Amino acid sequence: VGAAGFAGGELLRLLHQHPEVTDVVAVSRSQAGRRVGDVHPALASLGARAAEARFSGDAPADAARERDVVFLALEHGESSYLAEAIFAAGPGLVVDLAADFRIRDLALHERFYGAHVAPAHAARFVYGLADVEGERLRGAAAIAAPGCFATAAQLALRPLAAQLAAGSAVLDAIPSLFAITGSSGAGVKPKATTHHPARASNVFAYGVLGHRHEGEILEQWRRWTGRADARARLLTHAGPFVRGIHLTLHASGEGLDAGAWAAAYADRPFVRVLDCPPDLTHVVGTNDALVHAAATPAGDEVQVTVAIDNLIKGAGGQAVQAMNLALGLPETTGLRLSGCYPC
Ligand SMILES: NC(=O)c1ccc[n+]([C@@H]2O[C@H](COP(=O)([O-])OP(=O)(O)OC[C@H]3O[C@@H](n4cnc5c(N)ncnc54)[C@H](OP(=O)(O)O)[C@@H]3O)[C@@H](O)[C@H]2O)c1
Repeated sequence: VGAAGFAGGELLRLLHQHPEVTDVVAVSRSQAGRRVGDVHPALASLGARAAEARFSGDAPADAARERDVVFLALEHGESSYLAEAIFAAGPGLVVDLAADFRIRDLALHERFYGAHVAPAHAARFVYGLADVEGERLRGAAAIAAPGCFATAAQLALRPLAAQLAAGSAVLDAIPSLFAITGSSGAGVKPKATTHHPARASNVFAYGVLGHRHEGEILEQWRRWTGRADARARLLTHAGPFVRGIHLTLHASGEGLDAGAWAAAYADRPFVRVLDCPPDLTHVVGTNDALVHAAATPAGDEVQVTVAIDNLIKGAGGQAVQAMNLALGLPETTGLRLSGCYPC
């Protein structure tokens, strides 16, 4: 649902190539009746099953009836209005790619998004940071897929949180997460900030001292560190490229160990810890997260860099990975994608 958008298009691309997916219905209000291959021309190479299919204009709850899995890839806020009817339709699994159900703490949700429209449904969702949660998503019936910035930020923070929770390290300041995103993060509708002359040779900060993704980052950071007052600061920027997020975590304190990142992700199939900081273009087109960590010899500073494709690891790919985990399929099914370089 929301299949004509950027995240929806990425989901269609992945689901049509997924060996365990036999039937896909693409729902769109604005594109109902149009051929999928006309709206998403890059999908034409997947053959008639994908390209000749037409967008359904069915109400989302009707489309959800008796489906194994429903993905909601709608503008923020719309999932909240649909949740009651979607759950009543009884699909096996709901994966929401929007921010509506990412934050369990309703007061924290309200701070970043205003009062929750469907608070009764918030507790039904588990937070689906697939590379961290892994098998804990098995059997989930409703998954909130993390935001794109939040995915990169949390993959940087998780091993740091483990060091703090274990007592082997302490921080002496709020960790900062400097991130820069491509224009596809803003969705399919043209905006002043995604207009080519405003973006092509430009960099600018936005969401200053309060980007919305900080809410979900804080909730998980507090859960992992065991400290209800723990803070972290996301510094978001827009960059002159289409796909991807490049994020750098800097933290200072004592006992910081760069080896924690390689250890934490040693068994995770889509997180590759490198021995040098990643280039963004090396991850575009893949479901991978590229990570590099370095610490000063004294262990008093650590710098961690993460690169992801915002539409794959940060949206459709992570949602499909979460589906695989929830349904008990091998986690990597349909997601072993090579990148495309140069891009
Ligand atoms: N772009 C990213 O990098 C990214 C990453 C992670 C998560 N997300 C999240 O995924 C969701 C979709 O993002 P996107 O980038 O794909 O956005 P998008 O390109 O703008 O697509 C969203 C789709 O939602 C539908 N929609 C918009 N307004 C609606 C409304 N008022 N009521 C019902 N449907 C409406 C539209 O489809 P129809 O009008 O055709 O039905 C539209 O194509 C958002 O919540 C976003 O935060 C995006």
